[in-house]
Amino acid sequence: MSSELSSLQEQILKLKEEKRAIILAHNYQRNEVQDIADFVGDSLELSRKAATIDCEMIVFCGVHFMAESASILSPDKTVLLPEAEALCPMADMIQVDSPRPVRTRFPGFENPPPYIFPPEFTLRDIKAKYPGVPVVAYVNTTADVKAESDICCTSANVVTVIESLPGDSVICIPDKNLSMWAARNTKKKVIAWDGYCNVHERVTVEDVKKAKAEHPGAVVVAHPECRIEVLDMADHVTSTSGMLRFCRTSPAAEFVIGTEIGLMHRLRKENPGKVFHALRKDMICPNMKKTTLASVLRAFRENVHVVKVPDHIRVPAKRALDRMLAIP
Ligand code: 13P
Ligand code: SF4
Repeated sequence: MSSELSSLQEQILKLKEEKRAIILAHNYQRNEVQDIADFVGDSLELSRKAATIDCEMIVFCGVHFMAESASILSPDKTVLLPEAEALCPMADMIQVDSPRPVRTRFPGFENPPPYIFPPEFTLRDIKAKYPGVPVVAYVNTTADVKAESDICCTSANVVTVIESLPGDSVICIPDKNLSMWAARNTKKKVIAWDGYCNVHERVTVEDVKKAKAEHPGAVVVAHPECRIEVLDMADHVTSTSGMLRFCRTSPAAEFVIGTEIGLMHRLRKENPGKVFHALRKDMICPNMKKTTLASVLRAFRENVHVVKVPDHIRVPAKRALDRMLAIP
């Protein structure tokens, strides 16, 4: 490690102690940011940590909706997001009451669940069309969308969350790919939204065929934000921390990883004897990569950027998050 990096690390660790802070980092963060974090995990693990952690300040190395969730769950703590512009484009694809602009649709969208709402609608439109049908909000949503939803889910627990609800239908927002994958794994009718993660959506069937041809012995693992036809070709589908667990316990020695490449750091560190290939080398989330050690240091020094959700949104949003966290 360069002396510049180690000096940044030292300064961060000193301020962290002084401010009684905890650094949480998502599995997609830069390697050096993961390495200074107290806890690195997937969205579900990070929500659980944020709800139970004992500290005065949480510095959240991730994207805005994650810091918002931390603030919703721990309103008495100061939550800092080092990069104010670290946003999740998927979270912006659904609005409570003003429609998002219609963007270019991705081609090759097959095997849809029963109904997909197009972007010119709003969450309130979909709720009005299906009164009484519970709304499951992926954590990759803004706080006001969570506040209008019945329960949250992550990629790690979407099927369990859907199964926990009464009735035979659910509205699942905003990721159409996660919803289609959930629809495959539950008997309930899943009404989905036309949102997607542009990092995972770009993976095609051709990419999987190419990876399988180049690495014939490798096990293909994919994140449920990938297209359904890609998931159909994978050997295992799971969240980022699910991938870590799967690769650690699998007897296989070679894997093709279908998610943001930041996960490679932990996979390689925790499994030195195993080989990992990226399904596509350009699976890079620019928003996740905005946070650097320099921005973490600035966050501590300048107390920026405070993420705080107003109570009229926080209280109903917390109800949706708490319902999810109550499921074992
Ligand atoms: P998980 O780590 O929960 O699988 O989330 C993936 C993701 O895209 C977060 O933005
Ligand atoms: Fe959003 Fe996709 Fe980036 Fe996750 S990887 S923050 S879902 S754009």
